[in-house]
Amino acid sequence: MHIDILTLFPQMFEGPFSESILKRAQAKQLVEIALHNIRDYSNNKHKQVDDYAYGGGAGMVMMVEPIDNCLQKLKSERNYDEVIYLSPDGELFDQKLANQLSGKKNIAFLCGHYKGVDERVRQNLITREVSIGNYVLTGGELATAVVVDAIVRLIPGVLNDETSALSDSFQDNLISPPVYSQPADYKGWKVPEILLSGNHAKIDAWRHEQSVLRTKERRPGMLDVD
Ligand code: ADE
Repeated sequence: MHIDILTLFPQMFEGPFSESILKRAQAKQLVEIALHNIRDYSNNKHKQVDDYAYGGGAGMVMMVEPIDNCLQKLKSERNYDEVIYLSPDGELFDQKLANQLSGKKNIAFLCGHYKGVDERVRQNLITREVSIGNYVLTGGELATAVVVDAIVRLIPGVLNDETSALSDSFQDNLISPPVYSQPADYKGWKVPEILLSGNHAKIDAWRHEQSVLRTKERRPGMLDVD
């Protein structure tokens, strides 16, 4: 998979993409992530990327031209399955969308800032708008990092034990069961007996039962979803 990210703040991605599983996925060439600074595509001598909104009102708007220039160049190099704009008014990101996107070949993400992007970007250049939740961030960078993380870990080969993505919370509309490790008794806080029994059929049944119980308690709506 190839991912292009169009941003005014490429350095915001250095931490999230250079540690742990995302780092390894790139080293194993299971995913290629390229950052593009929108400012580099401004033809303006001051490298301007934003301007006042027509009609007035508070807040700057990200201009159409630098974003279009950047996307035109990228599109001359590859075809995109999706060009995604991260925005609080997009469709809500969930595990189902993560699964869909993890099967794509080329995805571009546009990170918005200020009061948003010129509407003509959304109308003509974007294929999909995605929100990571009903709250407003300072920009699309952290949202993009969240979406990319959720997608990349689903690419086959990224996780060591491939079944670990299959048994994720949400993957089968169930929340994961509780897990425990050593010691079996810590300050009197005990690991459930069944997990120490060695009876794997019983353990599997117990875990499934716990998943269903947790889902009913915490996400009752999730059990009705397709
Ligand atoms: N940009 C600002 N807030 C956002 C959110 N909640 N989701 C996606 N992009 C955003």
